[in-house]
Amino acid sequence: MYLTSGEEKLLNGELGPTYQKAIEILAALGDIYGADRLIPIKSAQIAGVSYKTIGDAGLEWISDLKGKVVVPSILNPAGMDMECWQEMGISQEFADKQKEIIKAYDALGVKTECSCTPYNIFDDLASFGDHIAWSESSAISYANSVIGARTNREGGPGALSAALIGKTPNYGFHLDENRSPNIFIEVEANLQGSDYGALGYIVGEMVGDKVPFFRLGSTPSKDELRSLGAAMAASGAVALYHVQDVTPEAVKYEAPDEKLTIEEKQIKEVYSTGEPDIIAFGCPHSSVSELEELARLLDGKKVTKEVWICTSRAIKNKNPELIKLIKKSGAKVFCDTCMVVSPASERFKCMMINSGKAHKYVPNLCGIKSIMATTEECVRAAISN
Ligand code: F3S
Repeated sequence: MYLTSGEEKLLNGELGPTYQKAIEILAALGDIYGADRLIPIKSAQIAGVSYKTIGDAGLEWISDLKGKVVVPSILNPAGMDMECWQEMGISQEFADKQKEIIKAYDALGVKTECSCTPYNIFDDLASFGDHIAWSESSAISYANSVIGARTNREGGPGALSAALIGKTPNYGFHLDENRSPNIFIEVEANLQGSDYGALGYIVGEMVGDKVPFFRLGSTPSKDELRSLGAAMAASGAVALYHVQDVTPEAVKYEAPDEKLTIEEKQIKEVYSTGEPDIIAFGCPHSSVSELEELARLLDGKKVTKEVWICTSRAIKNKNPELIKLIKKSGAKVFCDTCMVVSPASERFKCMMINSGKAHKYVPNLCGIKSIMATTEECVRAAISN
């Protein structure tokens, strides 16, 4: 990969070991994937935040870095609510380590809002056509597909390196030729709410890392698109998809020849019933309209089981009345974290969720059973005796 003279200087260590390491990582990625050069990015979103996932080795790596990010950069969810961690059942030892990780990122100039839906917090991180370096799979999918920005599936170190240098290697989804769809998904069902997560759960497994082109029988909201993309990124490795007449780049493409048809029956089969000991919402982090829906469904009710609602701290702080209404039911609202990346989930046996992504990850990453249900059914289970 071609490097400018300024980039060569960084590689030679003229600005110190942190920038040298960062450009080494970017150059190695560029060489592996055949990039011609580095291109400027608008923002970075950095995974590798929860102490549960990165452990002491990760903490040490981040703490050793000395420098500042040069583009707006934001963190992925951590392993606990940074304020209410005791309420989650997090140990003092874990909390101390998690706080050290956040402090180390803060020292690098990274915004320490820990959220997988940064586009619901800041307007200036990504617009149509922007090159970015994001690393949480649902955020990647949303940025590429719904916003029409351009990012590869960055790992945590790649995104942090891009944030420090302000550039990323020019390959993959940054290039027009890799953004065209290669499988057509015809959906013969009228979908709403969590059905989009169920659809993503099925389609991700079928298509792996292809770029699907959907024709849907219904018009999804942005929250529903986000649920679809999050689930496809978890059960498969989909980083970009198009929806005819809905997503911004779909208009450029025809439906590909290779075709799969999804029927309503298949969507229904993703749902099941059971006896959960925890019900969790907010994967990806709940938007304001999702919180409003939960507040409406929980109005005047009392939960009889552990209920978590995960959202970003910015949304929680901006909507105190809504949060008060939800909490009146006994449900807990947690920020900065989620049911998957927090070790607090592991003390339960069975989690009911309305998210296709969580349905895939809860058994694998928390070691507990998951039941996928609609939002209404999750609330019914939460208030039943
Ligand atoms: Fe976000 Fe956690 Fe789900 S990071 S997408 S809420 S697994």
